[in-house]
Amino acid sequence: MLRSTLLAAARSQGVRRLVEANPLTKPVVARFVAGTTPEDAVRATRTLRDRNMYVTLDHLGEDTLDAQQAADTVRAYQEMLQVLSTEGLADRAEVSVKLSAVGQFLATDGEKIALDNARLICEAAAAAGTTVTLDMEDHTTTDSTLGILRDLRVDFPWVGAVLQAYLHRTEQDCRDLATEGSRVRLCKGAYSEPASVAYQDKAEVDRSYVRCLKILMEGAGYPMVASHDPRMVAIAADLATRAGRSADSYEFQMLYGIRAEEQKRIAAAGNKLRVYVAYGDEWYGYFMRRLAERPANLVFFLRSLISQ
Ligand code: FDA
Repeated sequence: MLRSTLLAAARSQGVRRLVEANPLTKPVVARFVAGTTPEDAVRATRTLRDRNMYVTLDHLGEDTLDAQQAADTVRAYQEMLQVLSTEGLADRAEVSVKLSAVGQFLATDGEKIALDNARLICEAAAAAGTTVTLDMEDHTTTDSTLGILRDLRVDFPWVGAVLQAYLHRTEQDCRDLATEGSRVRLCKGAYSEPASVAYQDKAEVDRSYVRCLKILMEGAGYPMVASHDPRMVAIAADLATRAGRSADSYEFQMLYGIRAEEQKRIAAAGNKLRVYVAYGDEWYGYFMRRLAERPANLVFFLRSLISQ
């Protein structure tokens, strides 16, 4: 109930104005978002690199209905990729892209524009010597996103996909994508989805996550285990061992600002750990999804407002 209310608020322009206008929100946002500028993102990347971690950078933004804004987002990614290259960070950091930020929802030719824009970002990543992963948004975009992924992989076979264990379809998507060289980031899923397409019960989502993990670990691709859940992390490590995987044939991933100590522990144990670092001005939707994930995050937010 609380989760669906927060996720509905994540898409409400009225609530957005209220939350953004409150100056007390900023320090709480800073817990989950590395900053607003590319310099902030590079600083966070260096710090994580120095802790022997890897990074994927998300230039915040989503659901754009403005072609110019989509083009600006592409430019922001191109500039960031150039900086990663010149700063010698391209072997440590890749980028994550939401197709709705680069045109997928535009009324005319949205899908084609998103594909062309994603291609430009992939070209910049190839020139920098790193990779791109396509984020997954709500279920109405899954087929379109996987279609664009297929097209991009013709020229850029290293483009990664995100699959969401809460969707009924995801086990089959895992089977389809568990192929040689295929990078798949498995998460539980962060949007409000109807029972017709998604498991509603947390235990059912967890069971689906484990089934999907098993398919990915036993397959020929490169699984990226995106979860803060200690049970999922332990099960993933166990399944990787059973599948005879070496430590460099899969990785763990967590979000910036969430379970930082656990991130350190996983990396120190000799595993590959990548942190998803979001930066930019358009933090509202991302921030609200983090609040919806965990009541403690919301309590932290409310407490910080009250204690000011
Ligand atoms: P969940 O939220 O179910 O928590 C399970 C347990 O983990 C908790 O009971 C607790 O023990 C522990 N835990 C979780 N958060 C904690 C905290 N803050 N402090 C302490 N313990 C905590 N979603 C999506 O729909 N599309 C996408 O493209 C992506 N991309 C993405 C990339 C990466 C790298 C990550 C890590 C996640 C995403 N997500 C996502 C978000 C994802 O779908 C999901 O909403 C969150 O990761 C939360 O689910 P968890 O698996 O972490 O566990």
